[in-house]
Amino acid sequence: MISHEREIINSMSGPELIRLAKALSVPFTKRTIKRSVMEQSLYETLEKIRKTSDNELCELKTPAINILEMRKDFGRKVAVRNLKLEVNPGEIVGLVGPNGAGKTTTLRVLTGIIKPTNGTIIVNGHRMDKNPIEAKMKIGYIPERPTCYPSLKVREYLTFIARIYNVPRVDTLLRIREYVTRFQLDEFLNSYIGTLSKGNLQRTLLAGIFVRAPPFILALDEPIYGLDPRGAWSLKAHLKELKKQGSAILISTHILEVAEALCDRFYIMNDGDIVGMGTLDELKIQCPDTRNLEEVFLTLTGGIPEE
Ligand SMILES: Nc1ncnc2c1ncn2[C@@H]1O[C@H](COP(=O)(O)OP(=O)(O)OP(=O)(O)O)[C@@H](O)[C@H]1O
Ligand SMILES: [Mg+2]
Repeated sequence: MISHEREIINSMSGPELIRLAKALSVPFTKRTIKRSVMEQSLYETLEKIRKTSDNELCELKTPAINILEMRKDFGRKVAVRNLKLEVNPGEIVGLVGPNGAGKTTTLRVLTGIIKPTNGTIIVNGHRMDKNPIEAKMKIGYIPERPTCYPSLKVREYLTFIARIYNVPRVDTLLRIREYVTRFQLDEFLNSYIGTLSKGNLQRTLLAGIFVRAPPFILALDEPIYGLDPRGAWSLKAHLKELKKQGSAILISTHILEVAEALCDRFYIMNDGDIVGMGTLDELKIQCPDTRNLEEVFLTLTGGIPEE
């Protein structure tokens, strides 16, 4: 952890180092104004804090996401019918299905944006209907159509999100730097969110969900859509890393190669129902003569079209 934080400090700009020095109450004198000296005293102070404070990563409950008998109606339309879905810590679970299958509705109910018609949503042991703040504090959501405060600058937005989620100042500064580097947002830190391109807005929202403390519970609706190949690669690599560290991730995507490479298990939805679930191997057994997720998907959602 500490060597990782050392790298983050090394990559900070001058003003960021000064902000961190203030947050750590490290006085900057004529001597420490020299970058290498300043960096060294920041590492040492941080190391002391990390040693003395209880820095054990908290573990998530199993399952971290628990959707029980969920139904969502929009008037006469049944968008999701009797859904039972679980995601455990250390798992990436794929939610796939044709347009209109109910994926976005499921993620919106899961994150407390809309209420289910029936059923129970439990996030890390907190019921969304009884303890919505606790449940929402623990789940990071990337919506299908990213929107965000247009008049905030990227750095302001990330700081604002960190404050909402009670992230300590030192962690805020370190994590913003870490994710700005990871998602290549440096150039845009002082840009207004309203002026960002689609992909850079997506990257900003992603950085926003990661300013909280890991392990994460994530509900990602088409998170790769809109990212360029480098951005997509960087997100996929990071999700795999987070999974190893015990995060629980539910991801909806139409890019089946990505789903196949990334996810441990799948729920296949069609017209509001789960029509298949399990690992790819289990699904292939359920659908004889299929070779990959695409063929399983097509078989379960209307059949493989004739060539
Ligand atoms: N607010 C709403 N009012 C009425 N109908 C809705 C509403 N939201 C979703 N629906 C309907 O519910 C069904 C499921 O929609 P949903 O957006 O969950 O699908 P999806 O699986 O995410 O599809 P896509 O792959 O196109 O994103 C659709 O028939 C949709 O028209
Ligand atoms: Mg959708």
